[in-house]
Amino acid sequence: MFAMALKARLIQWLEDHRSLVVVLFCLPASFLFELLLQTRNTLRRWMSSPHGHDGRVAEIQRQVQNWNKLPPSERKLLCTSRPNWLSLSTTFFQKHLHHQVALPLYDILVLDEQNMTVRVEPMVTIGDITEFLIPKGYSLAVTIELTDATLGGLAFGTGMSTHSHKVGLYHETITSYEVVLADGSLVTATADNEHSDLYKTLAWSHGSLGFLVALTLKIVKIKPFIRIKYTPVRGQKNYCDQLRELSGANEKSPKVFPDYIEGTVFSKDEAVIMTGEYSDYIPGVTVNHASQWHKPWFYKHVESFLKKGEKEELIPLRDYLLRHNRAIFWVVEDMISFGNNPLFRLFFGWLLPPKPAFLKFTTTPGVRAYTFTKQTFQDIVLPIKELENQINISADLFEKYPLLVYPCKIIDHGPSSGQLRRPQAKYLVPGTNYAMYNDLGIYGVPEKVKQKKKYNPVDAMRKMEKFTRDVGGYSFLYADIFMTKEEFEVMFDLSLYEEVRKKYGAVGAFPHLYDKVKPEIDVFAIGEENNI
Ligand SMILES: Cc1cc2nc3c(=O)[nH]c(=O)nc-3n(C[C@H](O)[C@H](O)[C@H](O)COP(=O)(O)OP(=O)(O)OC[C@H]3O[C@@H](n4cnc5c(N)ncnc54)[C@H](O)[C@@H]3O)c2cc1C
Ligand SMILES: *[C@@H]1O[C@H](CO)[C@@H](O)[C@H](O)[C@H]1NC(C)=O
Ligand SMILES: *[C@@H]1O[C@H](CO)[C@@H](O)[C@H](O)[C@H]1NC(C)=O
Repeated sequence: MFAMALKARLIQWLEDHRSLVVVLFCLPASFLFELLLQTRNTLRRWMSSPHGHDGRVAEIQRQVQNWNKLPPSERKLLCTSRPNWLSLSTTFFQKHLHHQVALPLYDILVLDEQNMTVRVEPMVTIGDITEFLIPKGYSLAVTIELTDATLGGLAFGTGMSTHSHKVGLYHETITSYEVVLADGSLVTATADNEHSDLYKTLAWSHGSLGFLVALTLKIVKIKPFIRIKYTPVRGQKNYCDQLRELSGANEKSPKVFPDYIEGTVFSKDEAVIMTGEYSDYIPGVTVNHASQWHKPWFYKHVESFLKKGEKEELIPLRDYLLRHNRAIFWVVEDMISFGNNPLFRLFFGWLLPPKPAFLKFTTTPGVRAYTFTKQTFQDIVLPIKELENQINISADLFEKYPLLVYPCKIIDHGPSSGQLRRPQAKYLVPGTNYAMYNDLGIYGVPEKVKQKKKYNPVDAMRKMEKFTRDVGGYSFLYADIFMTKEEFEVMFDLSLYEEVRKKYGAVGAFPHLYDKVKPEIDVFAIGEENNI
């Protein structure tokens, strides 16, 4: 009894003094943790060689062949041995219940400037590839804002960026996947070879069809800067209309659309829209190294234009691509309330962000169940015609601002073309085979939780998912999902996927997609508990 009361008081104290605890303990520890990881990366870079790729793949094939020789009763389902805490996904997949195969694949293999592609091993990160490509005048066609995401994880989990209204989701920029299948054989899947069925289902497969050992991605030519224009807009319909107009949701090219588009929604009525173009240096235009440690957090900088009015500046490309990294969008504010104070930034800003890997590494099952009910991490892909509805519904359910919005093209690849359902006809851009969707990013502690109002996370998320299914949208599967398997199959089209699983021997060898991505905790039980 006494111990429980003490524990409750301790938890309350930690919660009330969260910023202090984070600054004094988490940040330094996270920094040391990061140093260790960095050292390991550097050693890895010295030691490994692109020429060793085939040998490394042969070793992976050998491990899978050995698994095949085990008696059937001892064959646990396969997964990679990459520790869970290194993955950016919010769920904790139960790796210890599976047969783990090591994939030590960290090298950039070939830059092909004729074909404008780069062939990489799957564990190369966004941080590595931007460092490699940008000095050479290139970037991936889709580069997300977090340095630690891996190119393989994005391939199987998919991703999108503020350039996606032009090129679509990350997986649309993959020209080939090299995969080790359940029987240990190595195949290359492209859109038009004999494995095109596999190609179509690998995106959004989360490692449930085979091991990815290399992939080839499209790159684009860049200039050293992004010329960015911040436009504050008042009135919900106004900013929604502008985002649709700018992204080409209403009409097809030849109209020229900006290279980058992003909206930060600060309240139902206020947003700042950013449009960016590749640019060389222009004398007279301010240069903002936006992701340096002492700079204001990017969304705070953006917010300032609500008062200051429209403005243009030049941001060096890598600073632009990683602009949300230091404050993990706006998540760090919930951890360190004074984190954007200029003095704090000057002296301690370089310690940010607390590394997602460190946060996950130190998350015990108790903490996980606790934070699960107090935080939201969701990226949802929804038709941009429904933008007003999206914002109103998420405002009702979570009361969480800012919201991240950027447009993304969803291409209609025809019937049974993979897990992504085809966009509904009413959302297609006239005269094209695509619809304009957008990412709705809801991150952090909902206002209802902060104000200790009644809030049932499971109920709220299930309502959001219901809306998503109704309009033919998709939940990103790195985030926790709250759907039953039946509901999941309404959101995603598993018809080709199930065929491919049979044909390529994945049944009985790799976990099913739904089992791979569903939270390891019983979300429905937690929903009941919170329903008092
Ligand atoms: C706050 C926040 C904001 C985010 N915002 C965005 C955003 O704006 N846009 C966006 O696109 N994404 C966003 N993400 C999601 C992030 O990009 C994803 O988590 C992405 O999947 C990459 O993570 P990862 O490299 O850790 O992949 P992992 O989680 O490691 O991998 C994804 C899946 O693929 C499997 N897998 C990985 N590699 C292999 C392999 N070689 N062989 C077989 N299976 C494999 C894993 O087992 C896992 O199931 C955000 C995430 C967070 C936390
Ligand atoms: C470019 O792509 C084509 C077709 O995919 C391929 O045949 C060719 O070998 C590639 N070029 C190089 C230099 O690899
Ligand atoms: C969204 O909410 C605003 C203000 O609450 C309201 O005026 C508007 O009609 C709503 N839009 C939709 C599409 O429901």
